[in-house]
Amino acid sequence: MQQVNIGMLGGGTVGSGVYHAWKHNGRVMAARLGVKIRFCKIAVKSFDEPRPYPIPAPLLTTDWQAVVNDPQVQIVIELVGGTGIARTMVLAALRQGKTVVTANKALLSACGPELFAAAARTGANLYYEASVCGGIPIIKCLREGLVANQFPAIYGIVNGTCNYILSRMQQEGADFAEVLADAQKQGYAETPPDLDIEGKDAQHKTGILASLAHGFWVPADRIHTEGIRNVSQIDMRFANKLGYTIKLLGIAKRLSDRKGGVQVSVQPTLIPHSHVLASVNGVFNACFVRGDVVGDTLFYGRGAGKDATASAVLSDVADAALDLKLGTHLRVPPFNAHARSGRIRPIAEIISRYYLRLSAVDQPGVLAKIAAILARAKIGIASVIQPEGHPGNFVPLILMTHDASHAAMHRALLQITRLPVITGKPAVFRVENFE
Ligand code: HSE
Repeated sequence: MQQVNIGMLGGGTVGSGVYHAWKHNGRVMAARLGVKIRFCKIAVKSFDEPRPYPIPAPLLTTDWQAVVNDPQVQIVIELVGGTGIARTMVLAALRQGKTVVTANKALLSACGPELFAAAARTGANLYYEASVCGGIPIIKCLREGLVANQFPAIYGIVNGTCNYILSRMQQEGADFAEVLADAQKQGYAETPPDLDIEGKDAQHKTGILASLAHGFWVPADRIHTEGIRNVSQIDMRFANKLGYTIKLLGIAKRLSDRKGGVQVSVQPTLIPHSHVLASVNGVFNACFVRGDVVGDTLFYGRGAGKDATASAVLSDVADAALDLKLGTHLRVPPFNAHARSGRIRPIAEIISRYYLRLSAVDQPGVLAKIAAILARAKIGIASVIQPEGHPGNFVPLILMTHDASHAAMHRALLQITRLPVITGKPAVFRVENFE
């Protein structure tokens, strides 16, 4: 049986997970593919760095160039992460015409077009299934399984750490900092975890999905991104009362108004309990993909962790090995810019319903003042909750609005917070009804 030789850069949590999964299922993979996969060199930061699964010492080196430049190595797996040395490594491998498999969403997000161009120059391929949604084969689904579709909407819970934190806050009333520490201990969170918490990791992944779905590259700085730091217990409780749960949602949606274009955003969002994404909890990820031919589809699975990521990395290795076996290097090229042009609509123009929590003095006329500001901004109120307090004291006031543009909502909010009867910082979150 033909054999392909793999070099791997990174032998920590994910790297040792890949090696372990290959040890476990390498034979089955070979039988399925008709080609044997062999790991011949693995570059690590240090020989004694802690790794959850052992890697035999003779395979290890601390010299990444010895891996990339080894003439035996045909496919390079990059699991170093970040946008520094990892970029140099990937470019070095592509320059030599070696196919690269990466899990590095930050690198793709920052340098996607540069990497695709480098791959095209030498006819190498670049695979990145593990960069989005861990073990869920969402890249393959969009590019191959659903190739006969255009995508009016994709809604994704794409960050395991944020979903883990929000789920535990909701289910156990757990404290933000305590749950974050737990997520770090279990190896879900990025280092530093701000990448997760501030929504950056979800931004990278949503950008990749949006680019594949809409056929033009969506740069990270065009994606309106909010993290989960402002989501508090109190909002979880009121959202729940109103029939919603709060999730960090990545959205890539084609807009059907007169101006057209695409909404690409990452925001904490209230989603109805009745929607399937509301029941995606813990470190699990899910993508709700609406295809114009297939209709609504749902992809669900572990979005982080060494084993889920290893499954995705090895699926790319399998494709790269088949490319080599069959001599079809670019059967599925890394990125096909198939749209003539694409326009990302500024967040100010995006229409949505909103959840608003204010801290207001409990006295006659307060609600009327707030309602008047919203009325002038042409924002309708769908419902109001105000728990009973003591007259003259501050109480939470929760409003659900009808559709409003982001700009109109934030202009009105500015006026509301200037009222002397309002104190503290308001909480404002989008509401998504998946229409
Ligand atoms: N930190 C990421 C997450 C890991 O929590 O989803 C997988 O990309």
